[in-house]
Amino acid sequence: MTDTLTLPQPDDWHVHLRDGAMLAAVAPFTAAQFARAIVMPNLREPVTTTALAAAYRDRVRAAAGPGFTPLMTAYLTDTTDAADLVAGHRDGVLTAVKLYPANATTNSAAGVTDIARVMPVLAAMADAGMPLLVHGEVTDAEVDIFDREAVFIDRVLSPLAERLPELRIVFEHITTADAAAFVADAGPNVAATITPHHLHHSRNALFAGGIRPHLYCLPVLKRERHRLALIAAATSGSPQFFLGTDSAPHAAYTKEAACGCAGIWNAPFALESYVAVFDAAGALDKLEGFASRHGPAFYGLPVNPDTVKLERAPTPVPDRIGDLVPFHAGETLAWRLVSPLLP
Ligand code: DOR
Ligand code: ZN
Repeated sequence: MTDTLTLPQPDDWHVHLRDGAMLAAVAPFTAAQFARAIVMPNLREPVTTTALAAAYRDRVRAAAGPGFTPLMTAYLTDTTDAADLVAGHRDGVLTAVKLYPANATTNSAAGVTDIARVMPVLAAMADAGMPLLVHGEVTDAEVDIFDREAVFIDRVLSPLAERLPELRIVFEHITTADAAAFVADAGPNVAATITPHHLHHSRNALFAGGIRPHLYCLPVLKRERHRLALIAAATSGSPQFFLGTDSAPHAAYTKEAACGCAGIWNAPFALESYVAVFDAAGALDKLEGFASRHGPAFYGLPVNPDTVKLERAPTPVPDRIGDLVPFHAGETLAWRLVSPLLP
């Protein structure tokens, strides 16, 4: 039995770090596990321009401390200036652009109302080699919430990938067998991130013994057969699938509410959570590609020079950290991240 693993330090290719006091509270946890992270732009005032991203990058750096590199994204709107984003990418401020369909999730009211409106921006991004990161759900109230990702593939993503085959696309936090199959069939310009919570839980967990607000996220957890398809994709060794936690902190009282916020804060034990899934699948040998190599390869970045060590050792997860309830709260995980140390 393998009891220790040493990997090049992983990166988180999808994280929400927020701003202000919440940023200060959560950034050190991400920086303790990951060398770099793709930082989502859905602040209350979304990060829609290169200048806003540069200012936010400074705040993230200050909160995360030295040794951590935030990779910034801009939030696409119906009125985004393509020239600003392409210049931001050329100048090294922006790594990618995030597409939120309007009202799909937290702070997405300013998102794109119709993909047709941003086609000129997407064409400019394709020319510049700038990746598009996609929250892949339709928002129509008449589409069942469990079908919104699959319908998005048919209505939006598949036509987009056909129309702009050079556009590099990351289908973020995929949750269905349909999405995993779409990505696998799409070729090397299309990749996907997979979260720890979608690997651990099916939608049954949301209702186990009562409603579980700390497992509510978007896209919502799906059926068990979808979870198994995500495990197969993550452990397949395909470079199209890589680590993205979608860690999304909300104060506990905003989740334990009549209308609770969507998002799971998994940053504090993210690697311990992923390794549990790969271990249970008998695929520990596939963790390094998923966590440390496929993401850098897709983004054209070097693999991190430092290493982290995971060892098999009981790791209790606290019920709470400050105002936040971490993913796996109250559980004991079977693996421990030995280095670097938690804050
Ligand atoms: O559960 C989620 N929370 N899904 C998202 O897409 C956004 C995130 C957040 O920002 O809270
Ligand atoms: Zn997200």
